Amino acid sequence: MSMYKIRNIAILGAGTMGSGIAQIAAAAGFTVYLRDISKSFLNRGLARIKRSVEKILQKGLIRISKEEILEKVIPVVSIKQIPQDDIDFVIEAIPENFELKSKTFQEIDQYFSLEVPFATNTSTIRITKLASVTQRPDKFIGIHFFNPPPLMPLVEIIPGELTSNHVLELSKDFVMSLGKEPVILKRDVPGFVVNRILAAALEEAYKLLHENVASKEDIDKAVKLGLKWPMGPFELSDFIGLDVVLAILETLKLEVDERFTPPDILIERVKKGLLGRKSGVGFYNYQK
Ligand code: 3HC
Repeated sequence: MSMYKIRNIAILGAGTMGSGIAQIAAAAGFTVYLRDISKSFLNRGLARIKRSVEKILQKGLIRISKEEILEKVIPVVSIKQIPQDDIDFVIEAIPENFELKSKTFQEIDQYFSLEVPFATNTSTIRITKLASVTQRPDKFIGIHFFNPPPLMPLVEIIPGELTSNHVLELSKDFVMSLGKEPVILKRDVPGFVVNRILAAALEEAYKLLHENVASKEDIDKAVKLGLKWPMGPFELSDFIGLDVVLAILETLKLEVDERFTPPDILIERVKKGLLGRKSGVGFYNYQK
């Protein structure tokens, strides 16, 4: 057990993952400052937390009240509204874009003491590569949650080449204090474990559809009934967000190999803003 105590957390990004991580951290008793760049993004994140907490409370899974959870999540639009010296852990959950992440990392390095551990929830980018644009590579680590964070038990922990043992141990304790099950990677590779396997499976499903082997409905049905996945590959793509899937495949194509080339059926949809459930249409239509 590490002596360093985490009480207050700053989470950057109030999207699906940032707000989900904020929710479980608040439910575990941490105070969370949740930063997004606009009031409307923040409000959407808070509304998502409320809905999710209500569902979980209905099932009697947790004892803490909705109010107790919500008052532990403090929404802010500027990093400067976060008490600079009170933060013990920073988590980044902004979009999967290296330039955008680099910019945010500069902001974090300038504002929070370089002693503070800093985790990224990147889905695919190598931790060592991201660490190289921070001034605290020894304090930097990947903690990769799964959607929806309140329900998915796994968190992948990925130390970069320079991550200290202290930060690794601390991150492991933190993840376990959220009631999650960590898997610690031995090597820092793009896509880690789950998204490498997921991306390969999705690529294969897209190829089967393109080659007209079966309809997307039947491919989904086959995988659900034949492999017992809770969602088929097309439903799952819509659930994750087609922009997120595209970003994963683009990184893996560049950094691993051509197997992960994004197919046209995905690129075309993203270009048209058909991003899956969050936009109302993806492979399926959710508008009604
Ligand atoms: N918060 C709290 N509860 C939730 C919830 C949320 N965000 N979403 C769903 N639930 C609850 C519902 O209330 C429901 O409860 P009930 O069974 O008591 O009625 C239960 O979960 C099931 O929900 P639904 O009936 O609405 O829908 P499903 O049966 O389809 O379950 C699911 C939803 C749990 C999301 C399930 O479909 C699932 O596990 N899907 C696969 C998810 C997955 O693979 N995630 C990983 C994606 S990869 C990733 O995240 C990595 C990233 O880097 C891309």
